[in-house]
This record gives sequence, structure tokens and C-alpha cells, in this order.
Amino acid sequence: MSLLAVAVAGRGVVDPAEPVLRADDEALLRGRAAFETIRVYAGVPFKLAEHLDRLAGSAERIGLPEVNRLELETLAQEALDAAAAPDAVLRLYWTPTPVALAMVSALADHYEDLRARGQRLISLRGVRADEPWLLPGVKSTSYAVNMAAEAEARRQGADDAIFVDRQGTVLEGPTTNVWWRRERTLYTPSLDLGILAGVTRAAVLELAGDLRYTVEEGQFGLTELLAADEAFTSSTVREVMPATDVDGVPLSRGPSADELQAALRQAAGG
Ligand SMILES: Cc1ncc(COP(=O)(O)O)c(C=O)c1O
Repeated sequence: MSLLAVAVAGRGVVDPAEPVLRADDEALLRGRAAFETIRVYAGVPFKLAEHLDRLAGSAERIGLPEVNRLELETLAQEALDAAAAPDAVLRLYWTPTPVALAMVSALADHYEDLRARGQRLISLRGVRADEPWLLPGVKSTSYAVNMAAEAEARRQGADDAIFVDRQGTVLEGPTTNVWWRRERTLYTPSLDLGILAGVTRAAVLELAGDLRYTVEEGQFGLTELLAADEAFTSSTVREVMPATDVDGVPLSRGPSADELQAALRQAAGG
């Protein structure tokens, strides 16, 4: 991650090389903090309110002090002003101390190449967070397993992973939601599977309706995904990212990923 600017509660904008956390902050010691990653288009964070809502919900579920939204909004603007990068990635952190942190980093330039080429995906057996204590839908800094899944995908020559549960039910990617299409119907795993309620997922749901696709949210097996006409993932940073194959099974490139990507960019004013 190429850091452009950092702003921290009580101090404002600081040199990105400066330390910002106490050594006893459980964000560091236990991965017990809430965070959000937000795409910035033309200097404006897309769907900031929705990301702050999710951050507040995650913090509550982890048992952190109540999120100070105003403070985070102010820090976000200070960091964005300091970074002065129209297209960037904003990250917000809320730790147990509590520390509020906003960081702006450059957008990695390989995503557009990947979108043009299409991503290769592999399935990995993951944990289905179907008990409340497993923190379903919480975006916390305990992401070592998600990062390990990305590394495993790369080790197997793929670009990203898709988690499936023990029964082969499709869940989500390490940092994405998963979609596929058959004819005019788009399918995506439902939130009751304990997956993250992606802000991009919600945007795509709405845009899909505008584009006259039918959307079915539910519990679907990997075999259904492998038999799709087209598949893609969605996330704040990757936006709508088409797939060329899953577990080595080739998938056609189709129109819906491109249409939804264009609609998302239009909605974001980017
Ligand atoms: C596990 C997981 N699922 C899905 C997503 C996609 O969410 P969003 O569209 O809000 O980026 C993320 C984003 O980081 C994630 O970490």
C-alpha cells in the first residue's frame, strides 16, 4: 500500500512515517478493531455514510466504544485534502483505545489490467460464520486469514479466492462479494450466510434492477457458479471484476459485468 496521507484523532494530519497507535492497543495485539476501505472518485469518498454505518455496526459487535462519526468524517477530509489525489483509497480505523484513524493511499494501477484480462478464481473451504459469536458481517482488522486466502490463490496461479463452506455453498471472497449470471438472472449469496454486507454489493443490487436484471439472493452451491454464463466479484476497490475461470473451469465473458461496472462508475461520478 502506498500511503499518501494519514490523519489521527487529536493530532490531525501526521507524517505517514510517524507511529499512531499505542503498543497496548488491541487493534495491534488481537486484531480487535473495526475498519472500512472506501474508493475515492474525483476526491469524493463513494457511499461514505454507508461505510460509516457499517463501521459503527462492526465496532458495536466487537464491543468497542461508540464510533465518533463526526470525528472520522473530519479526519477523512483532512487526509483527503493532504493527499490531494482525485482517485484514491480511503481507509478508516476505529480501535479500542479508542483511536480514530484515516489514511489515504494510491489506487493500485493493476486493477484496470485485471479487469481487461479477467480474473482467475479458485475456491477455498472457509468458515461459515453462522453463529453470532463468529461475528458474521463484521469488518474487523482480524484479516490474516483473508490475506492468507489471497496468497494461496496466487500460489495456485490464480488472482483471487472464493470461500465455500463444508457443503460447497458459495460464501464470498477474502475482500469481495461473488456474483454470477444465467440468462437475465444474477445470483449472489445471501447475507444470512454470515458474509459481509458489501457496500458495492448493495450498489450492484440496485443498478442490476435499473439494468433490468432479475437478482436472486440465496444459498447456492459451487456447481451452480461453475455452470454460470458469466461470473464476477464486487468490492469497493476492485469494483466489478469479471472472472475468466473458477477452479480451472472456463467461464465466458458476458455483458453484465461490463454493464454494471459502467453503471457503478456513472453512479460514483467517476
Ligand atoms: C470479506 C469481505 N466481503 C466482501 C467485501 C466487499 O465489501 P465492499 O463492497 O463494501 O468493499 C469485503 C470488502 O473488503 C470483504 O472484506
